[in-house]
Amino acid sequence: MYFRYLNFFNSKINKSILRTPGVEFLKKNKDVEKRSKYLNFWINRCKKNSGLKFFFFDEQIKTDSFTYASSNDFKISSTMFDSLGYYGLLIIKNALPQNELFKIISYFDDLAKLENHNNWLTKPSKVIGRTDTELNTGKVDIDQFPYLKSYSDQASTRIFNKKIKPNVDMHYLKIINNSEDPIRGETYLHSDRFIPHFKMFYTPYAISENDAPFEYALQSHKINLNYIEFFKQSVFFDETDQTSRNLYNEKIKVTTEPNTLYIAFTNGLHRRSDFKSKSERCMMFFQYVERFNKLNYLFPRNNENII
Ligand SMILES: [Fe+2]
Repeated sequence: MYFRYLNFFNSKINKSILRTPGVEFLKKNKDVEKRSKYLNFWINRCKKNSGLKFFFFDEQIKTDSFTYASSNDFKISSTMFDSLGYYGLLIIKNALPQNELFKIISYFDDLAKLENHNNWLTKPSKVIGRTDTELNTGKVDIDQFPYLKSYSDQASTRIFNKKIKPNVDMHYLKIINNSEDPIRGETYLHSDRFIPHFKMFYTPYAISENDAPFEYALQSHKINLNYIEFFKQSVFFDETDQTSRNLYNEKIKVTTEPNTLYIAFTNGLHRRSDFKSKSERCMMFFQYVERFNKLNYLFPRNNENII
């Protein structure tokens, strides 16, 4: 009981005073000088973390692709990490062995029907207040999925220099109208926060052009002069801000085969495409923001063992 209260208390603190810096300060302060000071302070702290420096500041040699088949040992190779650093995106096809894939499908069966036959942290429920789409969500503990946990540990250790346990949300999203209105922070191309940031995604099913695939502006994660200018000048921090166009040359839609995992740097510009027809999409989201917080950005550690 004591530990449950302690976890609840830690979670509350991580979500409030230790919350990772986002664009809230920039939205409140339109003054370019103030914004500039704030951005420089946090960006200079990030540069001191050798993992963040490699992926978000250094130039990488261009790799042929950002899409790979999984290796026999289900490890993320150094070439895959180089591609992630170059493009801001890494796609791994056929990512999980069959037994873990089937386990995940049984969770999505629960989610679509709002049933509870599996070991959920937060039981499936419907998000209320949406008009064009129907969204069922539930939370799970990554410790139940050893291969997903291994990918996640490899990624967080390499990117943050620290193994971070993510929060894992499962989403079953279904279009209920023939089209949908654009949603800021979702179907507009946007940045989640100015500070280096990543999310991992997994889907057990194919996602076609019609099923609202994730779209990413390649290389928009790199922190350079255009990047800083975008955050200094933006109003909405999305594609409706003119300077967003300077952050990338090419956008790609992550259409997937079944059993695909991908990692994206979501300080770069991204969105969920809008549905093109009546369709549905199943996705697991792995988020690190709660446990890699303000203190981790302020006081970087550089010597964590790489897995
Ligand atoms: Fe986002």
